[in-house]
Amino acid sequence: MLDRRPIVGGNWKMNMTRDGANRLCHSLLVRATESKINTEIILYPPYVWLTDVADILSESFIKLGAQDGLAESNGAITGGVSLTMLSELVDGLLVGHSERRNIFEETADKFSQQLIAALGIGLLTTYCVGENQKEQEAGLTYQVLEKQISSVFEGATGQQLSQLVNAKPAALVIAYEPVWAIGTGLVAHVTDVQERAVFIRNEISKYCNVSQLVRIQYGGSVNQKNASELAALEDVDGALVGGASLDSEEFASICAAFSTGSR
Ligand code: PGA
Repeated sequence: MLDRRPIVGGNWKMNMTRDGANRLCHSLLVRATESKINTEIILYPPYVWLTDVADILSESFIKLGAQDGLAESNGAITGGVSLTMLSELVDGLLVGHSERRNIFEETADKFSQQLIAALGIGLLTTYCVGENQKEQEAGLTYQVLEKQISSVFEGATGQQLSQLVNAKPAALVIAYEPVWAIGTGLVAHVTDVQERAVFIRNEISKYCNVSQLVRIQYGGSVNQKNASELAALEDVDGALVGGASLDSEEFASICAAFSTGSR
């Protein structure tokens, strides 16, 4: 493996009370420290608990990320939270998650702006891609992945994005998340995951000369049972975990499976 440090993200989505968020974070920190996990770990709590979690994680090796954020730096956007504001608090950002694409009907325009703004201010930025069930059944997986990648690397701001990635390849992470596997208990077959990771890397290489250094995660019903199999894949450099990240023991064991010593 090249210089690609495995990275595991915990996407809490719209879950956890304040107390629950505090306890989950404390307990994860203890477990991750005790078991000497050396995977890069980043947690994405809901906005409202970001400051609590930031306090707990300060001085720790676990990073903090936001589930969304606007590229506009400030202004009359009621309810909006800008990446500039978030960057005072977080290390990373999720972009293009299928729930943002489907529930909020967000599109490539927003994602390219977010990617450029986030990478521009030095955030660890994860761009999520993946086909839905219909697309998978129609054999369109590779076309979908190609489109989701080209839609941010082509067009008016494409070149700017390529430059940012070339300058700092470790700051971009691509999460391959088949939508049909998210929260369903269904996991893509490891052979397919590896093949799709290679495909994604190849697509990135059309726009950047550092694709070998860009990390690719798998996401979709990752748990402590399937993590080791996924961690053994050559082109898979981590996982984006939803449901299983709400349990500190399970999440810590997923992080341990991706620890460099275990791979
Ligand atoms: P899941 O979610 O692990 O609950 O399937 C993954 C994700 O949405 O990132």
